[in-house]
Amino acid sequence: MEPRLKALLDEVRAARGTVLALTGAGISAESGIPTFRGSEGYWVVGSRNYMPQEMATKEMFDRRPDEVWRWYLYRFGVCKDAAPNAGHRALVTLEERLGDRFTLVTQNIDGLHRRAGSKRVFAIHGDAAWVRCAAECGLGRVDQPDMGRRDAATPFTAADRKVLSCPRCGGWLRPHVLWFDECYDEENYAADSALRAAGAADLVLVVGTSGATNLPMQIGEIAFFRRVALVDVNPEENPFSELAERSPRGFHARGSACALLPEIVEAVGDRCTVILDSGIRRGSDIVKALGLGAQMVLVGRATLYGTACGGQAGAARAIKILSDEMERSFGYVGARNVSEIGPHIFAGRSA
Ligand code: APR
Repeated sequence: MEPRLKALLDEVRAARGTVLALTGAGISAESGIPTFRGSEGYWVVGSRNYMPQEMATKEMFDRRPDEVWRWYLYRFGVCKDAAPNAGHRALVTLEERLGDRFTLVTQNIDGLHRRAGSKRVFAIHGDAAWVRCAAECGLGRVDQPDMGRRDAATPFTAADRKVLSCPRCGGWLRPHVLWFDECYDEENYAADSALRAAGAADLVLVVGTSGATNLPMQIGEIAFFRRVALVDVNPEENPFSELAERSPRGFHARGSACALLPEIVEAVGDRCTVILDSGIRRGSDIVKALGLGAQMVLVGRATLYGTACGGQAGAARAIKILSDEMERSFGYVGARNVSEIGPHIFAGRSA
């Protein structure tokens, strides 16, 4: 791993920081799902090549609901046939290690993160697993009816129309996805929650997105302006990689999600809590142990014996000696408090 990337990830791990992973179509590319804007990024239905921007609109749905559904049923079939890959699984591992210090924001409607086992997921463009009433009659979100396997040439029939009728008002059901001519909201797409998570993250890890949509770009900009770590995993240049390259705490990890995410996760995700309980004599030993990654340091012997001498004043003096030594060590490494201690305090340490 590039030393600069390793150093950024080490800092986040040592500080027990929070991580927001933001994913796009690129993470599912290695599961065989075409991206949107890559050279293969169009979806053929019937005799026509449709660009997503053409089909994925409310306007098109209002005009040709049957044709839009035909396109989605084919797309959803491609998603159902795909299986989560090493990139999806790496993010599950990260969630297992970080717990509530981890949030996943995905633009993908393919459900692969959910199927891989991710739990804290904000699906900001919706999820193919659900449908809702196109007239917003109050039905809420329901499971997408199972309509069998569809290929690009499967026609849309009157029977399909029946299955895709709202059980409450009889109108059309629609896919639970955000269309290009619609706005983000909290109720359907958890937009506010995603922005809040971006405002609290110590690392924003962007994976496989071209930065063509609004809310994801805002998340990248929040990371940039807050000067928190910003890592973009993508084989191509894109607006996130540009932000990362302009940021003093950014890095463009050029490569595929499956190749890079497992080692990134190993570097940033704690395997376990490290408690150091041996050989601590001075405050500087505590600072060194924290810098090497300990989350807790147990202090015995010298300080403990010291607290047993001279009554209350003796105990206070033993503790003061230790805290003065720590303060001095903070000064030597340019830190104001424990949260600013990390691997960077070791001069010349690059990995
Ligand atoms: N690993 C990582 N990134 C990859 C990989 C890979 N194996 N393969 C491709 N990529 C990158 C591409 O370089 C590109 O930057 O994934 C990105 C895919 O970009 P898009 O096709 O534009 O997909 P995305 O950014 O997710 O699109 C955003 O636009 O069409 C709408 O709503 C749709 O959610 C979608 C949104």
